[in-house]
Amino acid sequence: MVCLGNICRSPVAEALMRKYCLDAGLNVIVDSAGTSGHHSGEAPDKRSQKNALKNGIDISSLKSRKFTTSDFENFDIIFAMDKNNYRNVLQLARNEFETKKVKLFLNNDAEIPDPWHGGEEGFEKVFQMIKTRCIEISKILILEHKKTP
Ligand code: 4NP
Repeated sequence: MVCLGNICRSPVAEALMRKYCLDAGLNVIVDSAGTSGHHSGEAPDKRSQKNALKNGIDISSLKSRKFTTSDFENFDIIFAMDKNNYRNVLQLARNEFETKKVKLFLNNDAEIPDPWHGGEEGFEKVFQMIKTRCIEISKILILEHKKTP
């Protein structure tokens, strides 16, 4: 799960995706990163923490880190929260195999907007958008898992 700072959107996506995979009994490793690295080592933005907690999700222990090319080796799917970050991650891909791992998190070219400059209501809005999509993705993963080889 990748956004710009790895302090607002992608930590929420990481925590929710991990929860839904765990709830479904799926053995999936979920992580998040930011393309900028400007907040590396920091806990999620206080507004994002507060809003997640209001929704029963504790993201306070997560730490921002910068996306690196080793993420292409360690993960099968890389979801970008918006098109800018999608393009930035794609630029780091070294071959077609890595390029194919990069997806926009939402369907139909839609984006999870950056809530950083807005008010608290923006954090609730993106939380709900991320939650809805994480539930969808976990359902897709369950169906994939059930497929017989
Ligand atoms: P995020 O939000 O990409 O969802 O973590 C942002 C965090 C920090 C900044 C921008 C967006 N920033 O400009 O520092």
